[in-house]
Amino acid sequence: MRETNGSAGEAMPMVRFDHVTKAYGSLTVLNALNLDVAHGEKVAIIGPSGSGKTTVLRMLMTLERINDGVIYVEGEPLTHMERGGKLVPANQRHLRRLRGKIGMVFQHFNLFPHMNALKNCVEAPVTVLKMPRREAEERATELLEMVGLGDKLGHYPSQLSGGQQQRVAIARALAMRPKIMLFDEVTSALDPELVGEVLNVIRKLGAEHDLTMLMVTHQMGFAKEFADRVCFFYAGKIAEEGPPEEIFANPKNERTQQFLSAVLEAT
Ligand SMILES: Nc1ncnc2c1ncn2[C@@H]1O[C@H](COP(=O)(O)OP(=O)(O)OP(=O)(O)O)[C@@H](O)[C@H]1O
Ligand SMILES: [Mg+2]
Repeated sequence: MRETNGSAGEAMPMVRFDHVTKAYGSLTVLNALNLDVAHGEKVAIIGPSGSGKTTVLRMLMTLERINDGVIYVEGEPLTHMERGGKLVPANQRHLRRLRGKIGMVFQHFNLFPHMNALKNCVEAPVTVLKMPRREAEERATELLEMVGLGDKLGHYPSQLSGGQQQRVAIARALAMRPKIMLFDEVTSALDPELVGEVLNVIRKLGAEHDLTMLMVTHQMGFAKEFADRVCFFYAGKIAEEGPPEEIFANPKNERTQQFLSAVLEAT
């Protein structure tokens, strides 16, 4: 296991995957993955289908258990707790507390269909964070204004376009005051003309230096402009990583080269 406390003055990463392995039956999806993400860092995750990109985000959201290794959030083990100097599996309370630092937006907008935009953003802060409803509504209104939907508070998901629904989903995740935001191909189910409005919201969030962001994307242009670092996944590991200008202009790994030329050919 790697040193988690670092030497004096060295900041703990916001997120650390330490030799994380996840398998489904005989299929190893994450293979002793190591990944550190610094506080406020914006990381783009790219790679072929099935390489484990979504799995990384799902493991961080504790949607499923990992088989081996440890994930740390702000230096605390996510799926484990320290008890008497030993790591034991985390209990529900510990999981809830650490999960509360993380917000996720999925490819398919999974809003509550029976709640309007405002209510979608108010329910979790009220029920989970025990925020007074009035305050939750004020904050949700601000967030919906921030994503350009100040005039759609009363609209139900079925009355919103895909891009608008995705922006509500972003506001809803932000309403929980996460320190880390995860985006999984949030524009790939959208009609091309709606992609820009969602990317603009993500751009705006990117300017918030405190927010750590991990984004799985097929939009190489956006990754290039937005990310501090690009990680190319292949077979459950990071095959190559670096600043976008290096990865896109001068990929060193043969797999990265093949992937990028295939993607660029397709667009
Ligand atoms: N619940 C599951 N049960 C069995 N296999 C799974 C499960 N979830 C994912 N897998 C498998 O794990 C592998 C990695 O899946 P993952 O969703 O992380 O890929 P991805 O890189 O996000 O791909 P894509 O670009 O297509 O979204 C795939 O082979 C997938 O079939
Ligand atoms: Mg995926």
